[in-house]
Amino acid sequence: MKLRHLSCALALAAALGASAQHVMELNTKKLGAPVSPTMYGLFFEDINFAADGGLYGELVKNRSFEFAQPYMGWRVFGNVELKADGPFERCPHYVVLSDPSHRERRTGLQNEGYFGIGVEKDKEYRFTVWAKAPKGKSQLRVQLINENTMAEHQEFVQQKLDIDGTEWKKYELTLKSTKTDPKAQLRLFLSSPNPVCLEHISLFPKDTYKNRDNGLRRDLAQALEDMHPGVFRFPGGCIVEGTTLDTRYQWKNTIGPVENRPTNRNRWEDTFDYRYFADYYQSYGLGFFEFFQLCEDIGAEPLPVLSVGLACQFQNGLDAHAQMDQLQPFIDDCLDLIAFANGDPATNKWAKIRADMGHPKPFNMKYIGVGNEQWDTPYFDRLKPFVEAIRKQYPGIKIIGTSGPDSEGKMFEKGWEAMKAQKADLVDEHFYRPESWFLATPEGRERYGNCGALRYDSYDRKGPKVFAGEYACHGKGKKWNHYETSLLEAAFMTGLERNADIVEMATYAPLFAHVDGWQWRPDMIWYDNLRMFKSVSYYVQQLYAMNKGSNVLSLTMNKKPVAGQDGQDGLFASAVFDKPAGEVIVKVVNTSKQSQPIAINLVGMQGERTATTLTLSHSGSMDDENTLDQPTKIVPQQGSLQCKAEKKLTVLADQVPAMSFRLYRVKK
Ligand code: AHR
Repeated sequence: MKLRHLSCALALAAALGASAQHVMELNTKKLGAPVSPTMYGLFFEDINFAADGGLYGELVKNRSFEFAQPYMGWRVFGNVELKADGPFERCPHYVVLSDPSHRERRTGLQNEGYFGIGVEKDKEYRFTVWAKAPKGKSQLRVQLINENTMAEHQEFVQQKLDIDGTEWKKYELTLKSTKTDPKAQLRLFLSSPNPVCLEHISLFPKDTYKNRDNGLRRDLAQALEDMHPGVFRFPGGCIVEGTTLDTRYQWKNTIGPVENRPTNRNRWEDTFDYRYFADYYQSYGLGFFEFFQLCEDIGAEPLPVLSVGLACQFQNGLDAHAQMDQLQPFIDDCLDLIAFANGDPATNKWAKIRADMGHPKPFNMKYIGVGNEQWDTPYFDRLKPFVEAIRKQYPGIKIIGTSGPDSEGKMFEKGWEAMKAQKADLVDEHFYRPESWFLATPEGRERYGNCGALRYDSYDRKGPKVFAGEYACHGKGKKWNHYETSLLEAAFMTGLERNADIVEMATYAPLFAHVDGWQWRPDMIWYDNLRMFKSVSYYVQQLYAMNKGSNVLSLTMNKKPVAGQDGQDGLFASAVFDKPAGEVIVKVVNTSKQSQPIAINLVGMQGERTATTLTLSHSGSMDDENTLDQPTKIVPQQGSLQCKAEKKLTVLADQVPAMSFRLYRVKK
């Protein structure tokens, strides 16, 4: 964040003072509801090539030849045979490379990676393969190549690998790249007359997040850590449900040795024919153990979501789902997951797998989501036995139900009623809505009813808590990342903050998108094979997450919440107290096209103060966004501001720029 002092702040404050047009009362004397530590989190779903091809460090696509068409991602040449009696029962396929029967011919194969393989000059890459040489010694040449080069040689890295045994064994070598190339490929030549069998052909950067072998792409994982998220919801989204039940996300398939995790067809292969990727599968290399580990690394509460026995309701009729008498395996999945995360390895087989994977201590999971975005009686009926079983065996676990895909309307209300009746601890609400919803304009209120920053002010305080589990402003006719929608998200979030007594969690969605492989926009973090950028929405989320404070403070204008109401000139504001820092934190969003003078009376404080500020503003087009080439085009700017002493209180006076989000921190 760059430092820019608000040099004329003092003079400005004096000029504005109590006569400023927008006078707000901030009561710093009385602490309101505590802010939940889970506030402002992340929602991860394997959409937009977020896992394989994204956060997961693997660079080889279809490393075990388990896609429906076993050579997807590969080009094979010469004498190559596919077999299905390999060493890993749940990934049985492998290839046999044999002599091409002519000294001028070649046998081998080549992997295209995910939209290419990104490698950087002087960085090291770990190549591993399970192999055997049925007739004794055999040899491979392992190369990184650029097929499109005009240079004499396509390969820019090459190593020989001797395969010396007749039994399956893991071989490893390090490839140090001599070039930076975002779209390299991996090529293997058989370089001996003896055949070789190859399985689980893998390439990882050595430099992964936390330097783990089966690790995550460092820059992307670091961006998650830098958000300081309170909660991490995974693994979806619709992939929890699957296009069909048998392609739903099954966590038990995602643990244990990576070589034996079966490949799954990704539900997002099937959704949009106008953004179609026929080879979108899940290797499950980034599985539930890795998700829990990531939560621990980044300090977020893990929030797994499991299938309630419903295949995606959008995509299916009633007969596609597990029937009521078929739910036990799904219920067991929930119970066993809690055991996997929290159980004692000495007495529980799932906990033992966790320990064997390197984490004997529990992950301390506290929440479970049952069903993603489900609706109506097919959901309500199925949820009941899950709630009963989880409550009976694990009364301390908080259960999260859902109110479906709509943020209002009959089905939404029915969902909330059912969740209240079943005593869900939290209700997961989803809202991908246009500007009019986020601003609660008259048009928005007419169409959507209870929307905008005042949405939660009128919620029943006695029922389940709110989890705003997926939301983003989808600009009308502009459903992609741009500055204006991020600003409206910031405005809306003042309502989440003000209603800390009922809103326990909130996660923006979706999280990741590969620029060459996305299906859904907007998204929080974008990347290609080597670069990434954080969207403006990321910075909005980060500003909230890093300044969530510990208790809400009352902040009003003309005795009303500051929520873009009539006479408030597009201003939204909320405030919290940060106990450990002893600071008052104020967030103000100006959604109007004019800068707005404000004066905030800090009731309960006296004397002059210096406030530090962080401002997101943009003087260019409201359609602008950060990009791979300009990743820091729009980022928060640091500054400071003098608050003046009035007779009995401190006054924070400022001119808030048009279309901006400014955050103030003042020592009490
Ligand atoms: O985030 C993309 C999708 O939006 C999720 O999979 C689903 O829950 C919602 O409809």
